[in-house]
Amino acid sequence: MNILGIETSCDETCASIVKDGKDILSSVIYSQIKTHSCYGGVVPEIASRKHIEKISYVIDSSIKKANIKNFDIDAVAVTFGPGLVGCLLVGVNFAKGLCFATKKPLIKINHLKAHVAANYLSNKNLTPPFMALIISGGHSNIVLVKDYCNFTVVGKTVDDAVGEAYDKIGRAMDLNYPAGPEIDRLAKTGNKDAYILPKPNVENKPFCFSFSGLKTYVLNIINNEKLNKNNINKNDICASFQKTVCEILCEKAFSCLKYYNQKKLVVSGGVCANVDIRNSLKKYAIKNNVELYMPDVEYCTDNAAMVASQGYFEYINGNIQKDMSLNACSCPDL
Ligand code: KG4
Ligand code: ZN
Repeated sequence: MNILGIETSCDETCASIVKDGKDILSSVIYSQIKTHSCYGGVVPEIASRKHIEKISYVIDSSIKKANIKNFDIDAVAVTFGPGLVGCLLVGVNFAKGLCFATKKPLIKINHLKAHVAANYLSNKNLTPPFMALIISGGHSNIVLVKDYCNFTVVGKTVDDAVGEAYDKIGRAMDLNYPAGPEIDRLAKTGNKDAYILPKPNVENKPFCFSFSGLKTYVLNIINNEKLNKNNINKNDICASFQKTVCEILCEKAFSCLKYYNQKKLVVSGGVCANVDIRNSLKKYAIKNNVELYMPDVEYCTDNAAMVASQGYFEYINGNIQKDMSLNACSCPDL
């Protein structure tokens, strides 16, 4: 079964065709990073307009690359949220038009479920149930995945997402947007013990995250150094920040696995591309005798193959739209 996936929730226009939820026939991504980097972050209005400019081309080239004849697609899966509403609407309306014209079923996809599904593309033997850690620019969640379409959130951030902390700290050090990959690179040659940083906990919510305090603490260090006209050692700041993030993520995720008596951890989202985070999770997994799954690095950040993969599982569970009333939603429940 071939599913066409469409993803436009933020600053990447993506389309992909995936066979039976696991085999990628094509995956096309038009990244808007160059457009937004001079603003230090995504400008929603510009992002929506760029999606409109590129979506036809991206979908067309995903079909050509997959080399399928006569629009041999069984259904269209599209991200309807969470994300920037103006951006989501571009993908949702294109998908609706396509389904109306071709009489194919329409499937709505939650972006976070899609991030988790990226793991089925890279780990063909993976099956639920498992615990998932979703770490992206907009979200930091720990989720119990009981089945392909049945998710229960057991922990989330009460303020900033981890990727957001990366990007804001990077901006204060004049790094390019998104700063995650550059902080990852600079941290390699820094002293991770140069700064002792806080690891905030959320009262009575042991599996919830709070990254805003850590972010502000690091921003204060950077601003104080700037005020005192000292040179900022970016490498040391990046290494210390990243070490703290690794500890927070590993400590929370593995204590949550223990509490829920789970032995499989599935990680996903853009921040899962981080080398130190991947290595720390691997060490914890070995020590705690846990099976660890992560997507290939290229499927950690936003793409449509993960949308098409989740689309397959939604389809076989009968989760198909009954009519054309689907709307975008900035923050739907999982
Ligand atoms: O999943 P994603 O593409 O979009 C959202 O759904 O938010 O994640 C983007 C986030 C950005 O904050 C970016 O800085 C971060 O992922 N990121 C990284 C790395 N690559 C991307 N963070 C840390 N290390 C990386 N190597
Ligand atoms: Zn994402």
